[in-house]
Amino acid sequence: MKRYFAVPAALLLAVATSACSSHATGSTAASSAAGAASATATAAAAAPAKTAQSANAAALANGRAIYLTGIDASGTHIAAKPPAQRPSCAACHMPTGAGGVHFPDGAVSADLRHAALVTHQKPPYTLALLERAVSTGIDNDGDKLDPVMPRWVLSQRDLHDVAYYVLTQLK
Ligand code: HEC
Repeated sequence: MKRYFAVPAALLLAVATSACSSHATGSTAASSAAGAASATATAAAAAPAKTAQSANAAALANGRAIYLTGIDASGTHIAAKPPAQRPSCAACHMPTGAGGVHFPDGAVSADLRHAALVTHQKPPYTLALLERAVSTGIDNDGDKLDPVMPRWVLSQRDLHDVAYYVLTQLK
């Protein structure tokens, strides 16, 4: 909202100033008011970029907390149906994402680092495919993952943030 009010107010000022002044000073006043208007417009345009940046940082911080501790930014412990054997992604996939943990049913936790998930996968994992794997246990090929991999029941935000963390931060 603010964005839309700021520019017209400055333009109004420019119009008012030039209308009340003599021709000589009027044009100077109008051009400096126009300068102020464009400065306002520039500041307004920069604001969304900054907001997007901090939203991104918040998403990564939440995703990291979920991945490493199983507790999201609001203090909620992530849950799965049926309940997960271990409380966090890192407890099975290692903090680095390297995986390699063996389970009694023969399952081995997957390597979630970028090369394994993206570079060496066909089709490569995308954010949407990761969200699907985490919430439904369907992998990038459309196959069912071993049941040791929990079917997580997460809020849309938590699901996005943990998938985004895995996709962009595990190298
Ligand atoms: C109890 C252990 C356990 C926990 C906790 C766990 N995983 Fe898994 N995960 C596994 C196992 C085992 C596999 C391999 C399944 C298979 O081979 O079919 C797997 C597979 C995956 C895959 C599929 C990778 C591929 O190559 O297709 C993704 C993605 C994944 N896990 C992400 C996560 C995320 C994110 C979390 C935390 C929200 C998590 N996992 C928590 C055990 C776990």
